[in-house]
Amino acid sequence: MARTPSSDDDIFDLRLARSAPDLWPMLDALYGARADYAAFRDRLLKAMRKAWADRAPDLKRLDLQRDLEPDWFQRPDMAGYVFYIDRFAGTLPKVLEKLDYLQDLGVNYVHFMPCLKPRPGDSDGGYSVMDYRAINPAYGTMADFEAVTAELRKRGISVCIDLVLNHTAKEHAWAKKAAKGDATYQDYYLMFDTPDLPKRYEETLVEVFPDNAPGNFTHYPDFGKWVWTTFNEHQWDLNWANPQVFLEIAEIMLFLANRGVDVLRLDAVAFMWKRMGTRCQSEPEVHMLLQALRAVCRIACPAVIHLEEAIVAPAEMLPYLGRGRHDGKEGNLAYHNSLMVQFWSSLATRDTRLMTHVMGTHFPDRLTNATYATYIRCHDDIGWAVTDEDAAALNLSGPAHRAFLSDFYDGTFPGSFARGALFQVNPATGDKRISGSFAALAGLERAEATGDVAGAELAVQRILMGHALIAAWGGIPLIYMGDELALLNDHGYLDVPEHAHDSRWIHRPRMDWAVAETRHAGLTHASRVWLGLRHILARRRATAALHAAHPIRVVACESAQVFAFRRDAPTGTLLCLFNFAESWAHVPEAWARAQGATRLWDELSNHPVETHHGNIVLPPYARVWLA
Ligand code: GLC
Ligand code: GLC
Repeated sequence: MARTPSSDDDIFDLRLARSAPDLWPMLDALYGARADYAAFRDRLLKAMRKAWADRAPDLKRLDLQRDLEPDWFQRPDMAGYVFYIDRFAGTLPKVLEKLDYLQDLGVNYVHFMPCLKPRPGDSDGGYSVMDYRAINPAYGTMADFEAVTAELRKRGISVCIDLVLNHTAKEHAWAKKAAKGDATYQDYYLMFDTPDLPKRYEETLVEVFPDNAPGNFTHYPDFGKWVWTTFNEHQWDLNWANPQVFLEIAEIMLFLANRGVDVLRLDAVAFMWKRMGTRCQSEPEVHMLLQALRAVCRIACPAVIHLEEAIVAPAEMLPYLGRGRHDGKEGNLAYHNSLMVQFWSSLATRDTRLMTHVMGTHFPDRLTNATYATYIRCHDDIGWAVTDEDAAALNLSGPAHRAFLSDFYDGTFPGSFARGALFQVNPATGDKRISGSFAALAGLERAEATGDVAGAELAVQRILMGHALIAAWGGIPLIYMGDELALLNDHGYLDVPEHAHDSRWIHRPRMDWAVAETRHAGLTHASRVWLGLRHILARRRATAALHAAHPIRVVACESAQVFAFRRDAPTGTLLCLFNFAESWAHVPEAWARAQGATRLWDELSNHPVETHHGNIVLPPYARVWLA
């Protein structure tokens, strides 16, 4: 006889039944051949049951709510803000004092940049973690963290934190035991007795930090091993072929979920699985691991979603949002690196044809249970992820275009408006990446320094166009701290010994609260950007067609300086236009109507669009969302 679910155990069993088919087949394939496999499955199941039993009642309520409203993160009211706790507020408890500021801006999602206990000294901005169950003592305690997440939950603000799962700090307890010779823990990492295998792997690997951490292995004479270190020497890659590693990370994930985390940003996921003769990035097993980790959360803490950080070419990125057999079962969010790169590329060339080609050919018009984290700047550098094939489709040379972009954004290209810094110049490959704040790369730093009033005005318009682009594309727009106030580069990092070698610190400034105080006056560039962004986010909330589930279709506009896409909502089409040049653009009214923008009403300004002799007139760097 049918019965209603009467206990928490029933609910767990129902969720287990729902997601078991997404979990066990992945683990069977990854680890099934191992002698300890049955015991591993048993321990994982126990860990999930225990985490669920320990989960606080308000989190269980949120689990139910999000099971009932699975599109909660796809809605147009979502907008995120990304910051370092110390640089934004000082400490964790002090974040609560800044909530009015965030709510004033219209943000309901915060990403605390790495906040778990890092190794002392240079910790790669916190991505070298020595204890996943403790908060960075400079920020507060785990009790503070829980108090903050509880308060944010009451205010309807979601919390994202980083889970670094490709590597731990060499000071992590597992690594220390491994270095002492404990074989169990040596198997948590990728360690070799001789340089032979590392040398063979190295033949096909790329270098992430060629400047200051060349190669992918580090030799430790004191314990006689070569250790896999993709990133920095102090970041030891985990051995995901060992099911114990899966179990440990799954338990950490559930522990963090129960402290009130809503979004786990899974760091550097592409690198999790190694295979000889490959780049050891985005191997099929990576997607099996990520689907299994996703299923674990859906069973024991379904309010939690996963943001996957895979900064790779378009075709390689999409599978992180679940394609093929992983459809709807892998990441809920992934960074839209291509949208970001193409924004900067079109801004430099004043020509959107490459952007139209890339955005229009490589991405499906919709995704299942997933969407993008859209952004213009983040804490990392910009790598020019434009493939040679895509460049060739526009008769461009890939290497020449990438070199041009680096020259343009480090400011050396004649006539460039930008001021940035090079990052990880690799003479062997010709690769040069770029650091710099949104405002500095968009021209505000140079214009202010040279007293170029018109140039500064253009920079403000470029910044607002970027914000309007990521608010309309579909997904969660992530505003990187300072970009709401057009903060410039922070050249002071060169005086900090731990940071001087890493130009990414140029765009990791301290919050300027004095500037923030004057945000409502509308008299400065900072204030105009702030008010403009607040308006964009408010209009996004009011525009139902921007729900991430509605298809996105890129359309080629006659005018090469205008990037165009449609959001085809059941209530009608929204045609979004962005003028990527400092000259005026004209778009035929008839064309816009044929694309579905029958009313020619701009939802962004909430006014009719300007037309002249049958053309829509777009001022420099204009952005319109036409209904
Ligand atoms: C990610 C982070 C980056 C860090 C790297 C290693 O790419 O965004 O800042 O250096 O992972 O953890
Ligand atoms: C990341 C990315 C790389 C990025 C780096 C941090 O994992 O793969 O593109 O630039 O690490 O700088």
